[in-house]
Amino acid sequence: MTIKAVVFDAYGTLFDVYSIQALAEQFYPGQGAAISVMWRDKQIEYTRLITQSDPHQAGGSRYYLPFWELTRRSLEYTLDRLKLDRTGNVVADLMRQYAHLKPFPENLPVLESLKKAGFVTAILSNGSPEMLASAVGSAGMKDLLDHCISVDTIRLFKTSPESYGLVQKYMPFEKQEILFVSSNAWDALGATWFGFLTLWVNRQGLPFETIGPTPTYTGRDLQRVLEIAELK
Ligand code: LAC
Repeated sequence: MTIKAVVFDAYGTLFDVYSIQALAEQFYPGQGAAISVMWRDKQIEYTRLITQSDPHQAGGSRYYLPFWELTRRSLEYTLDRLKLDRTGNVVADLMRQYAHLKPFPENLPVLESLKKAGFVTAILSNGSPEMLASAVGSAGMKDLLDHCISVDTIRLFKTSPESYGLVQKYMPFEKQEILFVSSNAWDALGATWFGFLTLWVNRQGLPFETIGPTPTYTGRDLQRVLEIAELK
């Protein structure tokens, strides 16, 4: 089977979530790295807690909160946990930055090549529609993506099978005709379990998870997509 569509995770894969570290560092010198890592971990922990606690409800988890809201609350948790003062505009300023995260530098040319070659391109993200629209817009990716799919429509976060299953509601392809790309090892594993072809973009040289199958492909940055799609 040949690849017909390339579907990207958003946060950490197309958009650099750790780019907010610099702003956090300005507010809290010496704490930027700790804040950005704990913020991210807590945010993902909340998505799992919500989905796992009520996965079978028609219309999604009763405990669902949009990812934007979870992002703010996980930031508040992080600042409290690190005993950092969060009065004033700090939370609002960091959240504003989160709405306009920087894309990784190679991403636009990779998306351009995929589109030119006729692949269907999409995002599948936990992100709420408004925050995705804002990030896609500020990264200049709007015309390079055919679909921007948010789990918000089903109120079940990744790695629920329902979330990965959304992709095939937008395109008429088999799982093995879809390459799912994520920098998050847990997301690459969830998508591999679901049955997609997968690429784990291991930008930080991390070990893969010690459970489950390894992804179909691994690479150091998004350019690996072009090799897999035989465009390079
Ligand atoms: C996403 C996060 C989880 O975009 O990276 O789905």
